[in-house]
Formats: sequence, C-alpha cells, structure tokens
Amino acid sequence: MFEIKENFSLKNYNTFGIDAKCRFFVECSSLDEITQFLENHNKSDIPLMILGGGSNVLFTQDFEGYVLRPFIKGIEIIEESEEDILVKVGAGEDWDVFVEYCVEKGWGGVENLSLIPGNVGTCPIQNIGAYGVEVKDVIEEVESLEIENLKKNTFKNAECAFGYRDSIFKRNLKGKQIITYVSFRLKKQPVFMLNYGSLTEELNKFNELSLKNIRKAVIDIRESKLPDPKEIGNSGSFFKNPVIEESYAKGLKQEYEDIPLYKQDNGTVKVPAGWLIEKAGWKGKRIGDAGVHEKQALVLVNYGNATGKEIFNLAQEIQQSVKTKFNINIEMEVNVV
Ligand code: EPU
Repeated sequence: MFEIKENFSLKNYNTFGIDAKCRFFVECSSLDEITQFLENHNKSDIPLMILGGGSNVLFTQDFEGYVLRPFIKGIEIIEESEEDILVKVGAGEDWDVFVEYCVEKGWGGVENLSLIPGNVGTCPIQNIGAYGVEVKDVIEEVESLEIENLKKNTFKNAECAFGYRDSIFKRNLKGKQIITYVSFRLKKQPVFMLNYGSLTEELNKFNELSLKNIRKAVIDIRESKLPDPKEIGNSGSFFKNPVIEESYAKGLKQEYEDIPLYKQDNGTVKVPAGWLIEKAGWKGKRIGDAGVHEKQALVLVNYGNATGKEIFNLAQEIQQSVKTKFNINIEMEVNVV
C-alpha cells in the first residue's frame, strides 16, 4: 500500500537538486497501486504531476498538488528468436541499469545510450538519444494508463510520433497518460552503431569491438564532458540543437569556419547549441550558484543552492544572447514547471 507524504521536498527527486516542495507526494510500485490511487484522486480537483527519474525537469516554484512517482519494476522476455529478443520493462527500472543488463546479456541496441540518467518509463517521452542512436530505434511499443478513465493503452512505435527529442507523449498526450511498461526489440547478433565521430575515435583505444567496449567508450566520453548529477545538479542538455535552413548555414560557415554543421535528410542543417552558446561567451560562466558547465556549454548546472528561477533566468539570458549574435532561436529541452 502506498503512503501519501505532505509538504514534501523534491530535492532528492530531481537531478538539478532544486529544493521545491509539493503539497502531496506518493510513490506507487505496481499498476494496481497506481489505479487505486487514481480512482480516489480523480474524484478531487487537485492538480496531478507525474515524475519519473526527475532528470529532465526544472522546478521554478512549489507544486500545489500531487506528485506521483510510479516505479513499476521488472524485465520480462516476451519473445525470442535466433536474431532478436523482445523484452518488456517496468517504467520504474533505472535506464542505465537496464542498459548494463542488456550489454551483459549480449543484447545489442541500447549500448550507445549508456549512462543517460532517468528511468525506463520516461525514455520514450523525449526519445532519448546519444552517439547516433535514438531510443525510438529499439522501442517496439509503449504501454500506459490513461489518467482520466483508467484505460490501459498500447502505443506501437509508429503511433508514438517519435522525432528528435520529441514524441506524442510530449505533445497531444502530455499529462494524460502514465507510462507503465516499455517493450524493446534488441539484437542477439548486434550491429554496432559507429557513425558518431567522437565515439569512433574513443573506440580506437580499445583493441576489440564489442557491446561492452562500446558501453565503456560511451561512459568514458560522457564522464569526461558531462557533470555527474550526484556531484553537480544538472539535467543533461538544457537546450535542443536547433535546425536551420541550408542557405543560412552556408552564410554562417563563411563567417565561422569552425562551426560544426550536421546535414539532415530534409535539406535542413542541425547546429550544436553547445557551440553557439560557447561562441556567445557563456561556457563556464556562473551567476551565483547557477552556471554553464565548463566542458559542455549545452548543460546548465546547479553548484549548490541555486533556485529553479535562477537557472531559468540564466537560460533565458542565454537564449537572448544566442538570438542576438546568430539570429537563431534555441529551444529548451527540459520541462519547466
Ligand atoms: N560543442 C562546442 N562547445 C560546447 C559543446 C559542444 O563547440 O560547449 C561542439 C563540439 O565540439 C562538437 C559539437 O558541438 O563539435 C557536438 O557536441 P557533442 O558531441 O558534445 O554533442 P551535442 O550535440 O552537444 C548531443 C545531445 C547529447 C548527447 C550528445 C552525443 C542534444 C540536445 N544533446 O549533444 O544529449 O549526449 O549529442 O550524442 O541533442 C542530453 O540530451 O541530455 C544529452 C546529453
């Protein structure tokens, strides 16, 4: 049975380490508990917020309602053949614990996504991605519970409307569904995904290509560039990489020879927001306890006691400054509450 806590600090439940409070806090460890909680809750008009791993959220104020943290556990094999395996995973499993498990078992597909903070249930929402792989590449389906009517739904991959750091769960279905399980189709004869420059470089240090070594290489790159949320509060990339018109990109290239540009299939070009922010002079800057990480300008950090508002204000200043210097809008990736 779940316990409802009142006037609860969320400091340990968001990787930014922001000390925001909620009026009520409840953790549910099974689908039954979630259903039971919602049956009661739906009779009230108190606002509800679902919190997963807390790795992609910035609290700028207290939340006057219920925060529900579902942590359904379990990894179950649904189907297995010579080539692949279908596993159904509880939304509350830690993402990287799951990745490590797959690598140990020799199941390929998620190794490039090693060490991403958060849990399995939130990985489809923003379609987590790194080093040339997005989680949509391996998701078979997403199961959820509809908050309003307690209906169980299954979304096939194509129904999730996945895009770059985007899905239907961030748009039409925002705040309407609780993701309960995610099923992944993984390869038993792995195909290594090595199209990301810095990963291929890092792998040269290893003498054998294997899932384990790819995981190690990804962990090494991430640890060298990205702050560990256990040490310095952060939520990974704070902004999305903007996509611009090719003609505009050409002009930028003439002015800035070193600008990294990534051509997209539809003729547009993706620019690393980290590069733009660095060029605008923000890398390593600190205002009070809110700052821009010194090794990766895309990441905003909380050096200790920053408030969510201070981080948010810094983010807005950065957006404005990138707009002024490059005439490019950079969009926040993190959910601001
Ligand atoms: N760059 C700079 N200065 C910086 C940061 C980056 O010049 O301060 C340049 C780098 O030199 C490089 C390019 O930008 O040429 C790309 O940098 P990086 O490989 O670090 O990747 P990114 O585009 O900045 C994206 C994801 C990361 C993911 C990496 C690796 C987004 C918003 N971010 O960052 O995802 O780990 O690629 O695939 O797409 C996250 O979402 O939380 C996250 C960390």
